[in-house]
Amino acid sequence: MNKKILVTGGLGYIGSHVVVELQNEGFQVIVIDNLSNSSMDVLDKIIEITGITPLFEKIDLRDKNMVSDFFKRHSDIYGVIHFAASKAVGESSNNPLKYYENNISPLVYILQQLEKIKDQNFIFSSSCTVYGQVDKSPITEDTLLKKAESPYGNTKKIGEQIIEDTCKINNNLNAISLRYFNPIGAHSSAKIGELPIGIPQNLVPFVTQTGIGIREELSIFGKDYPTPDGTCIRDYIHVVDLAKAHVIAMKRIILKDNSDNYEVFNLGTGKGSSVLEVVNAFEEISGIKLNYMFSERRAGDIAAAFADTQKANKILGWKSELSLNEAMLSAWEWEKKINSNI
Ligand code: NAD
Ligand code: UFG
Repeated sequence: MNKKILVTGGLGYIGSHVVVELQNEGFQVIVIDNLSNSSMDVLDKIIEITGITPLFEKIDLRDKNMVSDFFKRHSDIYGVIHFAASKAVGESSNNPLKYYENNISPLVYILQQLEKIKDQNFIFSSSCTVYGQVDKSPITEDTLLKKAESPYGNTKKIGEQIIEDTCKINNNLNAISLRYFNPIGAHSSAKIGELPIGIPQNLVPFVTQTGIGIREELSIFGKDYPTPDGTCIRDYIHVVDLAKAHVIAMKRIILKDNSDNYEVFNLGTGKGSSVLEVVNAFEEISGIKLNYMFSERRAGDIAAAFADTQKANKILGWKSELSLNEAMLSAWEWEKKINSNI
């Protein structure tokens, strides 16, 4: 496939891995990013990995005129994968309007431009956060969406609803929302990966930063959950597996293999891992004894959340392949690499 695909937020953590996989599969890629949470170095690394230079435009997608101008200049775009968004859950509670603006306006502007195109293929970065405080796992796509836990989570719910409503009245639009569980890890080259700003809120970057000595100690939030070892269970998916699912999803709609013009898929491994299992995996692959202690539960955390991936496995024909240890090893190699450059 040599079709031209727009990847918004393509210099970010997940987007950069998807650009690599798209280029590996022969797609022409054009990236839009405003560099609010990424840097131009990532573009160089993508070129180093793939040997291919994607087109790049620095555009802030909140600027409706810039979005319209971009689509006028690129009438040959065949599909859009929309990653660009703000993603810090805590920040979203302190600054909800930033999230409602950045995570909703660009989505609407892009969909408005797609209406002018004959073949409209659109993939949306959603999250398992849309399920809210689930009662049980594994979580299927049919699980009732409960109230969002944060403005960030709400933007993902609203985003999905906007796409679904638009698909209902526009048969030319083929869209898929991908609900990611917990993406972790980095590319095997250790050239691209996650770059958390400040103190990481997520488990895996906190673990690797503790391993390398940036953080003194990991706090494990709660040890009395109703799980086998008392710590919370999540579904940690390797970012490269996640990236490959985007390419498969894009091909599905381009080839019109989709059964409905709006579809939703969970992207996870289908296997839950506890916080202690993640710590053990890190210790195993690094040979380092991690400094950790148990602290109070974190507000809003649920005991267990992992995906039922049968729909993605059967209908999308995608399955995660990489193990927790492989993901932790790649995260660790990445952590060592970024610190060796300082
Ligand atoms: P990221 O912050 O690394 O990447 C987002 C990219 O979008 C950044 O490069 C940023 O500069 C760019 N961007 C943000 N606002 C923009 C704007 N207005 N115009 C142009 N570019 C803009 O985040 P990520 O982890 O790669 O996440 C990508 C997507 O996946 C997001 O939509 C996020 O909500 C979603 N998601 C992420 C996770 C996760 O754990 N990382 C989980 C579920 C869903
Ligand atoms: N945890 C710790 N110590 C830490 C950080 C996390 O014990 O320092 C624990 C948490 O309590 C949780 C598990 O590790 O049990 C995973 O926590 P993360 O913050 O890495 O991931 P979450 O599942 O809580 O959150 C993720 C994304 C959010 C998204 C949410 C629901 O990071 O963006 O899933 O989709 F909103």
